[in-house]
Amino acid sequence: MSATIIDGKAHAAALRARVAGEAARLKSEHGVIPGLATVLVGDDPASEVYVRNKNKTAQALGFNSVHRHLPGTASEAEVLGEVRALNGDKSVHGILVQLPLPGQIREEAVLDALDPAKDVDALTPTNAGLLLSGRARLVSCTPMGVMILLRETLGAITGLDALVIGRSLLFGKPAAQLLLAANATVTMAHSKTRDLPALARRADILIAAIGRAHYVKGDWVKPGATVIDVGINRVPSGGAGTDTGEGRTRLVGDVDTDEAAKVARFITPVPGGVGAMTIVCLMRNTLIAAAAQAGLPAPEV
Ligand code: GUN
Repeated sequence: MSATIIDGKAHAAALRARVAGEAARLKSEHGVIPGLATVLVGDDPASEVYVRNKNKTAQALGFNSVHRHLPGTASEAEVLGEVRALNGDKSVHGILVQLPLPGQIREEAVLDALDPAKDVDALTPTNAGLLLSGRARLVSCTPMGVMILLRETLGAITGLDALVIGRSLLFGKPAAQLLLAANATVTMAHSKTRDLPALARRADILIAAIGRAHYVKGDWVKPGATVIDVGINRVPSGGAGTDTGEGRTRLVGDVDTDEAAKVARFITPVPGGVGAMTIVCLMRNTLIAAAAQAGLPAPEV
């Protein structure tokens, strides 16, 4: 038997329609137009693509969209100045500082300067703490996207064993908190974990966010499990480990999808799985932030 592929694009399109509907209502009933600001420092091509897609999606939804691009040589003080100016801009409800930042700029200093009410990535200590306390207002976009996919695919996940591989601030840590809040039994694995394949084989929900192409093998997967692949790795287009010498690349996840799909019940593809959800969840957060800043209840999306 082969796994059912979780169609991230279809789930994302449905969420996007709900966000668009609520954004239209916010505008017509309250005159509030959600505003998203992106801040990019330097010229990393992958980051440029991500940021451009975020701005394009915001514009397509009728949001205000502003972009600040600083040179890779910008000082920490200059970046902090941009963040503080955006904190004070009433037309901006969400601020996203694209990571990673160049080495001369401390990530913590930038996150500490960000107004938590506008922190649509939910990376500030305030938002991380609210999530830990079960009082989250804004939740990191990729973990939120994964939880929506799980809910719409599996329904309740109460009592299921979930393994999260990767402990980043952007994904692994918030994902573990959300799974716990949904009553899963959560294990976190990382680069120092012993016998990862054995741990993985116990997981009803196996989530890989490692950043290594095809790291999770088919024989790590428990029969009937749900496999969520958060990885986005660029490899030579001949396949992982081959180099055509022509510079062409393709995107693959952290999971050997073909092998894992022979064992799993549900699996997300790369591309077209989790990644499709992330940007729409960012728009959802911007909408929620806009409503909160206008003193309105959280929209039902
Ligand atoms: N870099 C890679 N993914 C992300 C993300 O979701 N948010 C930010 N701010 N930077 C990123």
